[in-house]
Parts: sequence; C-alpha cells; structure tokens
Amino acid sequence: MRNMSDDHTHVQEFFTARAADWDSKFPGDGPAFAAAVAELGLREGDRVLDAGCGTGRALPPLRAAVGPSGVVLGADLTPAMLEAATRAGRGADAQLLLADVAALPLRAESLDAVFAAGLIAHLPHPAENLRELARTVRQGGMLALFHPIGRAALAARHGRQITPDDLRAEPNLRPLLAGSGWRMTSYVDEDDRFLVLATRES
Ligand SMILES: C[S@@+](CC[C@H](N)C(=O)[O-])C[C@H]1O[C@@H](n2cnc3c(N)ncnc32)[C@H](O)[C@@H]1O
Repeated sequence: MRNMSDDHTHVQEFFTARAADWDSKFPGDGPAFAAAVAELGLREGDRVLDAGCGTGRALPPLRAAVGPSGVVLGADLTPAMLEAATRAGRGADAQLLLADVAALPLRAESLDAVFAAGLIAHLPHPAENLRELARTVRQGGMLALFHPIGRAALAARHGRQITPDDLRAEPNLRPLLAGSGWRMTSYVDEDDRFLVLATRES
C-alpha cells in the first residue's frame, strides 16, 4: 500500500549534499545514457517520464528520441537535484516536477514509457512504487531501469559486495516487476551497465 507518510528526509539530505557535483563526478556517462534511452524504442511524439531524474542526465537523449512534438517529464523529490538540472539547462528539454514517484501527478496511462536511472535502490516500497509507475503507462508501454555501471561494480565502488537479497538481482527483480504490472523482457548486468527493460501488462 502506498504510504503517504514516508519520510524522505534521508534521501533528500543525501542527494542535496551531492547535487552540485553530481554531473562532474561521472563526466563520461553521457553515451551510456544515450544508448540506454535508445533501447526504449521511443518514437517521435511519444510521452516519457524520467523517474528520479536527478540533474537530468537522461533528459537530452529522451528529448532527442521523442522530438519537439513529444512530451518529456523529469520527476524528482530532491529540490537541489532539480535546481542543478535547471542550472545545467535541462529545463529546455523537459518539464521538471518536484514529485515523489509513490504518487505521481499524472493521469493513468498518460505515458508511453518511463526511464529510471539509479532510482530503484532508493525506493522504500519498490513493489508499490513500480505499480504507481505502471499506472501512468499505457498497455504495451515500456520501462527501463538503468545504471551506468553494473551491480558488482557499483557495490565495489561503495566498498560492498552484492548479496543474493539485492532486489536488482534477476531472480528477485523479475517477480517484483511481474507483481507490479510489468513483464521483464530483457536483463543485462555487466560491468559497464545495468539495464532492465519491461513492458506494461494489461
Ligand atoms: C542515484 S540518483 C540518480 C539521478 C539520475 N537519475 C541520474 O542517473 O543521474 C537517484 C535520484 O532519485 C531521487 N529519488 C529517490 N527517491 C525518489 C522518489 N521516491 N521519488 C522521486 N525521486 C526520488 C533522488 O532524489 C535522486 O535524485
């Protein structure tokens, strides 16, 4: 069940402290974002949400994919990340929304796709939150869960090891998605990228 009383203070503090330097920390990620967006198969005029958009690194390739007639939204609950997105000029590519993906201010089935980079590990209720993303996407629409490096490389960067209970492990993520309105169609977890694609089920 959606919990409207979730306290996001910790997430907001964590990302507020990192917002100003976010893009300069990993300056070479652009091509990986562009390649991941390409796999969504977006078409001219499509409507797409970048969920947990942060500084908006995915927004330029998303805009390029849907063209001027498309709709690109970027939603994030950390104001400092959206402010950094605006400073970087990404407001020209998308409408930026201060919003929690647990309760999006969007109509049901109003989107063709959702792109979410680095988001899922931060969600307090992944099943409910993925269900809310599914609510906003039309039947047959797409979801991409992306990270510019794979699970093992990310864990090593944080001085950890991956464990079997990691919700992004394929045996955990497939049923999580299936129970949230999505059918996983592709799973890639390599050193230089994590990319899961799923289709909105009826
Ligand atoms: C690891 S950062 C990734 C940012 C961006 N997608 C990127 O790849 O550069 C995760 C982002 O998700 C946002 N976030 C975390 N939980 C969220 C939620 N429930 N709703 C909206 N945004 C959320 C954070 O504020 C943060 O900006």
